[in-house]
Amino acid sequence: MLLRRYPFLLSLALLAPPLHAQDGEQLYGLYCAACHAPDGKGATGGAFPPLAGSEWVHGNPKRSVAIILKGIHGPIEVGGKSYNLEMPPQGDALGDDQIVAILNFVHKAWGNKGQEVKRDLVQVARDEFASRTKPWTAPELMELFPLEKQPTALANLTSRVYKGQWVQTPDFSKIEAENVEEEHHGIIDLSIAALKQDFGIVWEGDFMAPADGEYEFQLDADDGARLLLNGHPVAEVKGLGSMANKQRISEGKVTLKAGANPIRIEYFQGKGIQDISLGWKIASAQQWQWLTPQAPLKSPSVPTIPLLPKDGRTVIYRNFIEGSSPRAIGFGFPSGVSMAYSADNLAPELLWADGFIDAGRHWTNRGQGFQPPMAANVITLSNQRFLPPSARFKGYTLDPKGNPTFNVKMENQLLSDFWTPGENGTLIRTLSLTGGSSVLEIPLGDNPQVTPAKSVSLAPGKPVTVTYKLR
Ligand code: HEC
Repeated sequence: MLLRRYPFLLSLALLAPPLHAQDGEQLYGLYCAACHAPDGKGATGGAFPPLAGSEWVHGNPKRSVAIILKGIHGPIEVGGKSYNLEMPPQGDALGDDQIVAILNFVHKAWGNKGQEVKRDLVQVARDEFASRTKPWTAPELMELFPLEKQPTALANLTSRVYKGQWVQTPDFSKIEAENVEEEHHGIIDLSIAALKQDFGIVWEGDFMAPADGEYEFQLDADDGARLLLNGHPVAEVKGLGSMANKQRISEGKVTLKAGANPIRIEYFQGKGIQDISLGWKIASAQQWQWLTPQAPLKSPSVPTIPLLPKDGRTVIYRNFIEGSSPRAIGFGFPSGVSMAYSADNLAPELLWADGFIDAGRHWTNRGQGFQPPMAANVITLSNQRFLPPSARFKGYTLDPKGNPTFNVKMENQLLSDFWTPGENGTLIRTLSLTGGSSVLEIPLGDNPQVTPAKSVSLAPGKPVTVTYKLR
């Protein structure tokens, strides 16, 4: 499979002379350079991601080991650039010594300052991830091995947190701050407030302009934010509102002198989602650089609109959901429980109780403040199809509160599968069958803590209601 996909690997393997297991540079040339390029800058002119200067090979060295062992796929950002490709696993092709040698080369090559990798670490990682069959995704790795923050253009940064209820960015000079902190990473990060709602933050410091010239800034926030440089307003996002509304993005141009330019960023959060993004570039440059934890990913397969059940209504999430089949539809119920239904398997696949929104934030890695370990609490109900081959997905309908009924048609029968939120983290599922005479055996899942029974027998005209308990 690997060779079919990447035939050039075979030719490399045949041409290469026999190698000493420890020769990291040569092993790199054989096993990695085809995609990451001999100079580590990414093959085919950077269509593949670089290893030179990559944040992924810095910090916890186990991350690199994990990537070699199991591969990685899906959206990833490396050095501020987005990719959405696939790296095949190489754990079976490479021995522990070879992985050690390759990584000790990669971690120190091209100016990298990654950590040393010891043989034990590779052995431990092999055992730990032995049962894993799928390649990693970037968000999974970020949760297991958080990336180290790179220094930004912000120096001498301090933050002040304020408490209050506002509908506009207030005049912070008239309010007393709760606390003041130094932010040595130079990152505008909302998590420092550790508050969910009704707060404000003001950051002050120096924007270190690399050269004299014109600069562009891009500010977006949920809710309001304001950017000042050298005491002058440059961009402002006004009032309450969401980053899903792209019209709120505010851009400003300003001429700066090389070196320190005093910068001030003001932010306030009402209720619900909290988020901010602030990017800058030299006016003539292409690439934005981000002063907030991560650039918004532009890849279409990543949800960019975080959702939250609002006003007691259930919300839909029609995007890639990890651990679920490609045609999965997610529903976030106001009871704080979420469910993903597979239109491929015609059955509910996943249940989780950490709050729907975190699925979106988890995926974009733009979540700030609180990112519960969603993956740790996802329950897989089923991942295969059990209905007869004639069964066809006939779409879903929503009741006035947004609760879904999934419809499946079989030869002479119609199955409808209705989900509503119950009390205290429960979900109520009502199954009904019309037409025909056959009784359908419907599996309910295999998790005794959440599932009322292993399966139910469903007879035409006799609806069955079951309750899944997630908390
Ligand atoms: C067949 C092509 C291919 C080969 C061979 C390959 N990689 Fe990758 N690698 C990729 C792709 C593509 C990605 C990004 C995957 C994505 O988009 O999620 C990646 C991502 C990575 C990353 C994380 C992102 C980054 O750029 O830092 C690391 C680290 C990495 N590879 C290391 C290696 C090492 C070490 C080897 C050799 C043992 C290797 N790769 C071999 C294609 C390859």
